[in-house]
This record gives sequence, structure tokens and C-alpha cells, in this order.
Amino acid sequence: MEKTLIVANWKEHKTNSEARGWVEVLSSKLKVKSEKLEVVVCPSFVLIPDLHSQLSILNFELSLGAQDVSKFEEGQYTGEVSTKILKDFVDYVIVGHSERRKHFGETDEDVALKIEQCLKHELAPIVCVSNLEQVSKCQSVKVSKTIFAYEPLFAVGTGEPDTPENAQEFAGKIKGKLGKNVRVLYGGSVNSENVKLFVNQPDIDGVLVGQASLDAEEFGRIIKSLNH
Ligand code: PGA
Repeated sequence: MEKTLIVANWKEHKTNSEARGWVEVLSSKLKVKSEKLEVVVCPSFVLIPDLHSQLSILNFELSLGAQDVSKFEEGQYTGEVSTKILKDFVDYVIVGHSERRKHFGETDEDVALKIEQCLKHELAPIVCVSNLEQVSKCQSVKVSKTIFAYEPLFAVGTGEPDTPENAQEFAGKIKGKLGKNVRVLYGGSVNSENVKLFVNQPDIDGVLVGQASLDAEEFGRIIKSLNH
């Protein structure tokens, strides 16, 4: 059975020393190594290499992910970070987050190209979708290694999560379209109080956590509540 995935999305938060402090607090509170869970943290690009070394020195089992990736493989694309560059450090990449679609004009075509890049270089894309049309646009790409995150717009960053029943229904529909093997996460105002309600749904394989992942204590509670 696949492990439940807990993904922290730090967005545009944390300096290098804050990131290091977060790892220190979390690693002092719990052993992340678990038969049941995989925990992934997605910091901003510049924090990734240092966190990578810190985690290996601490021998702390936390996977790393990026919050975005270039749709281009390599070349004259100032400011972009490719899968090839990321591959030395991360296993996962968040793709098509609603904030990128909204503030940076990212289209379904861009998202499809980014998924393609991830799969080509063996990184697992975590594709954020808020409706089934966006899922259909991904149908041409290989889905066996793709993870979807259902993130309804009204729930992202608002403190107002969707109901676990709606999230289950949406996750069930994605699996109905793409097959039972595709992994589906729920994201949108997840915290230590409600996380179990989502993860207990039969078609929800994990969560994507924004705000509640920034505080190591609260994030630790999320992990603990799923770890027994
Ligand atoms: P939130 O963010 O948990 O703060 O709602 C979730 C996300 O944007 O992935």
C-alpha cells in the first residue's frame, strides 16, 4: 500500500535560518520515519540545497519538493529552474498551484509541459486542480507517476476548508477518470484539527498543507495525528 503523503507548501515564507529552525524543532519532536507516512516539505528554491544538507546530517527522513519548475528543459530562460537542476535535491514538484495560475497567468498548457518535464526527469509532479476540466487537460500525460491535489479556490488560504465529503467526491471522480492508481491529495485550510477527517476518506491519499505547515509545532501535530 502507498504511504499517506503529507506535503508542506511554504509558499513565499521563511528565510534560511527560519527554515533551519523549523527542521530542528520538528526533528526534536518526532521521528518522521514511518511505515504509514511520507512527509514532504516544499520550500522556496534558494532554501532547498541547504535544507537538503541539514536533513542528511540530521539523518531525518523528510523528503523535499519544489513549488514550481520550468516548462523548458534547458536554455535561454532567465530566472527559470529546470527539473535537471532540481533533481539533485528534490523528489517532488508542485505544479499548477492556483496561486501560480492566478498571479502568474499559468495555463493548462504550461501545466501539461511542466508535468511532462517532471516525468521525463523522474520527479513526481503534484498537480493542483480545482475543477475536473483541469484534470481532463492532463489526461494526455502519463498519469501513473502523477499525484493530483484537489484544492478548491474558496478553501486555499482562507481558513474555510471544503467538507471531507465533497473532497472525497472530487477525489473519487479523478480516480474514475484516470484510474484507481492515481494518488489524490486534498489541500485547502488543512490543520491538525481537521486533517484526519480528510485522510480517512477512501479516495484521499494525503494532504497539501499551506499555512498550518509554517509552524513546526502545528505541523508536528498534523503528522502525529496521522501516525497512530
Ligand atoms: P492553505 O494552503 O493550507 O494555507 O489553505 C494550501 C495550499 O495552498 O496548498
